[in-house]
Amino acid sequence: MEIILLILFAYLLGSIPSALWIGKLFYNTDVRQHGSGNLGATNTFRVLGKTAGLVVTAIDILKGTAAVLLALMPFFSSAGIHPLLVGVVAVIGHMFPVFANFKGGKAVATSGGVLLGYNWPIFILVLLTFLVALKITKMVSLSSMIVAVVGFIYCIGYYVWTGDFYLMIVVGLMGIFIFYRHRANITRIKAGTEPKVKWL
Ligand code: G3P
Repeated sequence: MEIILLILFAYLLGSIPSALWIGKLFYNTDVRQHGSGNLGATNTFRVLGKTAGLVVTAIDILKGTAAVLLALMPFFSSAGIHPLLVGVVAVIGHMFPVFANFKGGKAVATSGGVLLGYNWPIFILVLLTFLVALKITKMVSLSSMIVAVVGFIYCIGYYVWTGDFYLMIVVGLMGIFIFYRHRANITRIKAGTEPKVKWL
């Protein structure tokens, strides 16, 4: 019973379409109709500006973190499911949200949140790597994919050091999600038409 509740809560948490709801509630704008059309933090920055972008980033990260922390609570920890797998369920909810016709974001912020909830030092390392990649490439999408690969490499090293097999596998899986969800971005990057951030 606990395991079903936990998976359901994690999926519903991940399904919260923050970009859609904040856009509609506070800006009377459906971000799906503008920019890349993606229900994510980057498109919210692009369409609604910095304040909304930061709020959506924070919420999307916290969805992943909250799912992991929920799994660690005494009531749910007896369910026998690894907290990282519960985090993956939240990432799936973020990509395929029940509250937005199953068309959600590209897995980046919520995957970061899963890392934050499970192993914050690796999250910080991954975040710094993302910022360096963004400074160099000026493309959020490309930086996200770079960090998906580099983050996986960090976790291979961490596995060799500590034996944390789950972290390596789950970060690899979230990396696959990130690449899969960036198919349109990859096409634009190849064509040289992917938008670059202007404020860096
Ligand atoms: O997190 C999503 C980002 O990597 C790309 O978003 O809107 O530029 O496709 P977008």
